Amino acid sequence: MNYTAEYARSINDRENFWLEQAKKLDWFKAPEKALSIDDQGLYRWFKGGKLNTSYLALDYHVANGRADQAALIYDSPVTGRKKTYTYRELRDWVARFAGVLSDLGVVKGDRVIIYMPMIPQTLVAMLACARLGAIHSVVFGGFSAHELAIRIDDAKPKVMVTASGGLEISKVIPYKPMVDDSILEAEHKPEHVVVFQRDFVEAPMQEGRDLDWMELEAKASPQSWVEVDATDPLYILYTSGTTGKPKGVVRDNGGHAVALTYSMRAIYGVKPGEVYWAASDVGWVVGHSYIVYAPLLFGCTTILYEGKPVRTPDAGAFWRVMAEHQVSVFFTAPTAIRAIKKEDPEGKLADQYNLSQLRYIFLAGEHCDVPTYEWVTNLLKKPVIDHWWQTESGWPMLANPAGTELLPIRPGSAGMPVSGFDIQILGPDCKELGPNMEGAVAIRLPLAPGCLPSLWQNDENFKQSYLTQYPGYYASGDGGFKDEDGFVTITGRMDDIINVAGHRLSTTEMEEVLAGHPAVAECAVIGAADAMKGQVPVGFVVLKDGVTIGDEDLERELIQMVRTKVGPVAAFKRAIVVKRLPKTRSGKILRKIMRSMADGKPFQAPSTIEDMSVLGELEQKVQDLFNSI
Ligand code: COA
Ligand code: AMP
Repeated sequence: MNYTAEYARSINDRENFWLEQAKKLDWFKAPEKALSIDDQGLYRWFKGGKLNTSYLALDYHVANGRADQAALIYDSPVTGRKKTYTYRELRDWVARFAGVLSDLGVVKGDRVIIYMPMIPQTLVAMLACARLGAIHSVVFGGFSAHELAIRIDDAKPKVMVTASGGLEISKVIPYKPMVDDSILEAEHKPEHVVVFQRDFVEAPMQEGRDLDWMELEAKASPQSWVEVDATDPLYILYTSGTTGKPKGVVRDNGGHAVALTYSMRAIYGVKPGEVYWAASDVGWVVGHSYIVYAPLLFGCTTILYEGKPVRTPDAGAFWRVMAEHQVSVFFTAPTAIRAIKKEDPEGKLADQYNLSQLRYIFLAGEHCDVPTYEWVTNLLKKPVIDHWWQTESGWPMLANPAGTELLPIRPGSAGMPVSGFDIQILGPDCKELGPNMEGAVAIRLPLAPGCLPSLWQNDENFKQSYLTQYPGYYASGDGGFKDEDGFVTITGRMDDIINVAGHRLSTTEMEEVLAGHPAVAECAVIGAADAMKGQVPVGFVVLKDGVTIGDEDLERELIQMVRTKVGPVAAFKRAIVVKRLPKTRSGKILRKIMRSMADGKPFQAPSTIEDMSVLGELEQKVQDLFNSI
């Protein structure tokens, strides 16, 4: 079938299209209906169906000819380790760790927070939760203890799972002290913390509460899967919102399994048995979907890479992994390609490796700029496909559906709507805009299976955040336009979310941190363009009267505060003291103007500006800042 026909069916004959996709899975009880509406008025997929995601990802394959196929390849240049696990080995390990959790009293519906580096134990913990019908919430290792505490209080986990530490290139990051601090700060206290001790750093243990992974595993007996409803939550993944508080995106079991399985065939064009590699982190949605769940649900081999695109040991690391493990389809973020390009501008290191088995390179996480697209396309001579999605969707909403029909690539565009996503560009009055007119990228409801049905225990916030701005549509928060053929270009966020090296962060959250400094009267944080990371946060602060602290001392303190409160991943490195912030007469800070100034783009001051003269000083400060970098 070609793309146009397949996409049209997914929208116009939604019910049959998605029931057909659902039939490709081994349900314990197949759903009779695809779409329904719950008593909160929210769409739900495959209600009545019963399944287990861990069973589908492991046991099903063991029983259907893949027992001895590699399920997981762990490749860790930072520790010098490599290890392959077959489907049978992974299934047995997951069953045993499900036994560990079960011995600790974890049952269906309980939450388990996982704060771990990129090691096989992390996948095992996730799949063990899924096996028991427990809901995991993985927190990215680059977040601080405070961020972890916020998630503990929202998810209220019975158990936490962690490791003694991670390695950032050669720097040891002890994880356990962060977990201890987070539990101290949080009101909710998990009953137990399971700790996997790594050999390069030892975690301090609190007697009674903290338990050693290896000791527990040695005593545990394997646990079988628990039948769950299609609409039961599989996981919660917190993501930055426009307020200071992260949003708990919920993923269900049924829609997720159907959508991810479909995506492997229709979008990524990969075949069961092949090696699929998403070079992301399990702490992000890309890692959840395309390191852990989709490759395993589809019977592929997945790669867990504990390293960076550069410096582990060099900018040829990605090419080495792809050649060594025979990767067919590869997925990364444009920022990783830019990092490689910076260190190896001519891509010479790629010559050392045989990449003939590689079919496609997929990019997401941020807009793919044309120079990056061209560089990697010229280097690898394979289709490079930008595709757009969010934590909320859990899988791509715009793509070039290589598995269905590889459409001509239009550099700069994130592709065409994926099956199930009726994507429209809206004006402020909620009218659908015509070709090449920029507006809000919105999705006419219902969303496709696999997308968030709601936020964790907060339907009202879900409706308020995504469904009220444009009635009948999901507001993505991104801006963009469609060309005359329907290809969509994403132009960037329309809210206070920024994207730093493919990591989604809230500037509001950083502003709350800066505002907590005793010298700061008011502040604004904006995302300024950065050649490698895409964007970096820059803080502008106005001091309280009478404050004597030096600008450099203040900047140092503010940087440390953001590291402690948000985490190093925020990459907050610049804070500039200004006399005033540009504001409207009603007191609204004109962040858009500040962003334009930082990016060296033209801007127009609105007629409502309180005081035009403030712009001169600000522009000078911004210029000084960028001249000094
Ligand atoms: N645990 C602890 N700390 C972490 C971490 C983790 N998992 N990940 C990042 N950090 C820390 C880093 O050590 C660094 O700390 P520092 O300020 O003390 O040096 C800080 O967070 C910023 O890290 P990072 O964003 O990785 O910047 P970098 O300059 O070290 O590397 C890239 C730049 C482009 C190589 C890297 O960001 C990258 O690989 N990005 C791809 C992101 C991605 O795949 N996103 C998923 C979307 S598809
Ligand atoms: P996250 O929820 O962390 O996956 O971040 C989602 C956000 O990243 C989106 O709302 C976009 O702003 C941005 N994004 C992701 N993929 C793309 C893409 N291909 N093109 C442009 N922006 C993207």
